[in-house]
Amino acid sequence: MKNILILPGDYIGPEVMAEAVKVLEVFKAEGEPIAWSFGHLGGAAYEAEGHPYPPSTQQAARAADAILMGAVGGPKYDGLPRAVRPEQGILGIRKDLGLFANLRPALAYEALAAASPLKPELIAGLDVLIVRELTGDIYFGQPRGRRKTADGHDEGYDTMHYSVPEIERIAHVAFQAARKRRRRLCSVDKENVLETSRLWREVMIRVGRDYPDVELTHLYVDNAAMQLIKNPRQFDVIVTGNLFGDILSDEASQLAGSIGMLPSASLDANNKGLYEPIHGSAPDIAGQNKANPLAMILSVGMMFKYSFGRTDLADRIDAAVRKVLQDGKRTGDIAQPGEPVIGTQEMGAAVVDALRTSK
Ligand code: IPM
Ligand code: MG
Repeated sequence: MKNILILPGDYIGPEVMAEAVKVLEVFKAEGEPIAWSFGHLGGAAYEAEGHPYPPSTQQAARAADAILMGAVGGPKYDGLPRAVRPEQGILGIRKDLGLFANLRPALAYEALAAASPLKPELIAGLDVLIVRELTGDIYFGQPRGRRKTADGHDEGYDTMHYSVPEIERIAHVAFQAARKRRRRLCSVDKENVLETSRLWREVMIRVGRDYPDVELTHLYVDNAAMQLIKNPRQFDVIVTGNLFGDILSDEASQLAGSIGMLPSASLDANNKGLYEPIHGSAPDIAGQNKANPLAMILSVGMMFKYSFGRTDLADRIDAAVRKVLQDGKRTGDIAQPGEPVIGTQEMGAAVVDALRTSK
């Protein structure tokens, strides 16, 4: 039996998660050995237990075989001290479970070509995988904080660093992913300015010698941001650090048409993972049955593929999503002007229908 911990989170988190649970129910009814339980993370956890990643969630997360997460954060919690803000829940669970490898695939769905702000001919057939290091970099670097400058001004500071083993392990994940795809890996850094990036690039080149069948290239992050918009199909796999990956993966979501379409996997060294859409908690549309649940549902697919070795079920989820898109089902974020819009629950139900008939 595979035990899944479900952390719905804040605002639209519980809404999109409810649709993901319907997908789990389909597979359970087919006899798949899965079970799930619920926990708190983020603002919801702060409200229920006084901490964004409380001990009860820690215990359940460590024991689970995989974790599904909705989204956390929002204006209700903006005034809280940083240590108990919802973001610390997600950062805390990533660090606690050692989820260092974040996989963020961006696919251009044919049916959504018109939803991307880029010209359809630029994105047709696009299939990029961003591999983002997730437990290091300036996100977690010490020291950080506030201090006084010599001339008495308040100053905020953070520390960017990566050690060789941290770079090596994410490099291996990226090279291996490239090997299963089109064998091209682009490492993104800021080697012309940052010491951290100089080491990053050296280690990438060294690890690359173990993968002579994968073509390794390098881009500075500013150029990579431009190339993603200018000619996104040049990329197969991109590997980068935590901060650059955060930024580039949001950018890549627009290639796919909407940030509501992008799932992600955050894996430890043994492929235990946390699966979440890359979008946030969207307070502006929360509670209105408007959110797109497809990124959350596709995250369930990634869970079956990466943590449970069930590519067959992941493929069925992907196919069901393609089918509902081809059938013209659209939530507001992916609809063209004049196209009929359906709600979160209707989109979830459409995927469930497509899944049931695909067995
Ligand atoms: C993401 C988010 C998080 C991050 C926030 C919520 C801390 O933007 O998963 O990309 O910066 O990693
Ligand atoms: Mg982000």
